[in-house]
Amino acid sequence: METPNKIVYMRSLYKDLERYENALKTFKDYSGEYEVYKQWYETKFEQLVVDKIKLEEQEDQQELRVMGVGSGSGEADYEMLTELLSRYPKIRNTVIEPADQMMQKYRHLVTSQQQSLSGVVFDWRQQKYEDYQQDCQQTGDVTKFHFIHVVHSLYHMPDLDAVLESLWERLDNGGVLLIIITSEKSGIHHVHEKFNKEVKADNTMTNATSADVQRVFDKLRLTCKVYLQPLRLDITKCFQDGDRDGDLILDFLANTINFRNAAPKILLEDYMQFLKEAKCSEVSSDRVLLNMDWNAIVIQKE
Ligand SMILES: C[S@@+](CC[C@H](N)C(=O)[O-])C[C@H]1O[C@@H](n2cnc3c(N)ncnc32)[C@H](O)[C@@H]1O
Repeated sequence: METPNKIVYMRSLYKDLERYENALKTFKDYSGEYEVYKQWYETKFEQLVVDKIKLEEQEDQQELRVMGVGSGSGEADYEMLTELLSRYPKIRNTVIEPADQMMQKYRHLVTSQQQSLSGVVFDWRQQKYEDYQQDCQQTGDVTKFHFIHVVHSLYHMPDLDAVLESLWERLDNGGVLLIIITSEKSGIHHVHEKFNKEVKADNTMTNATSADVQRVFDKLRLTCKVYLQPLRLDITKCFQDGDRDGDLILDFLANTINFRNAAPKILLEDYMQFLKEAKCSEVSSDRVLLNMDWNAIVIQKE
């Protein structure tokens, strides 16, 4: 018989960092996300971001101040830094990342790539962006940045309006802010919207999308450019009972530890059925590909 209050056992994946990391890695393996990013940084980043940064002094003489918000283990940051270094040989890179394990991995990456990152000085801040902002206010730190990036981390910041306003203030004149976030038209967003309440558990993540970010910028009367990037996640294994990778992908999608076992049966059935709907996935005879499209939002401070 169904346990009436089984929902209390659904816990946010973010509360078990080891499982979170495994789920994130499985998601990356089954979406080819790493290759999509690498290609995006190699082919689009220069034209859409780097060319837009305008410094007052000559490029090779001024130190470029960069801030990464929610940098995780640093792979995306590394791609951006290597691109930036070809134009700006001196970079001061502030890393804001609250998770200890992520930060350690990032530091390890920097050590292993010491030679290619020799022009970068790192300022490590193991804390949430909101706490960093508060500390700066208390100490009167008004450092401004030429480039700020927030890659898939805004979901962890409940007060979106306040965070975006503060990021805009932290941007120097001539600077660029890059936000990468799920598209409101993606299948995964439809899933989040439909099951928002049932799958909430003790989950503090928001379902913020590109549309929410644009709404805030509209309110602030700021103009941004939005670039769509298609991404498909192969979720076929989620439909094979007992498949370990399928379970981890499900955990990642629902942001819930062991979602297949923790969710009430009816919820799980509805969830699995909805994943296959045309607004969410492309279904063929042997594959189910979930639409995980994201947008790159670029905004310049003239
Ligand atoms: C999905 S990961 C993205 C990591 C990385 N940017 C990437 O694209 O690979 C989101 C990151 O945001 C971090 N995070 C969570 N809450 C945060 C907050 N309030 N401020 C800054 N970062 C936060 C998490 O620890 C996690 O590393």
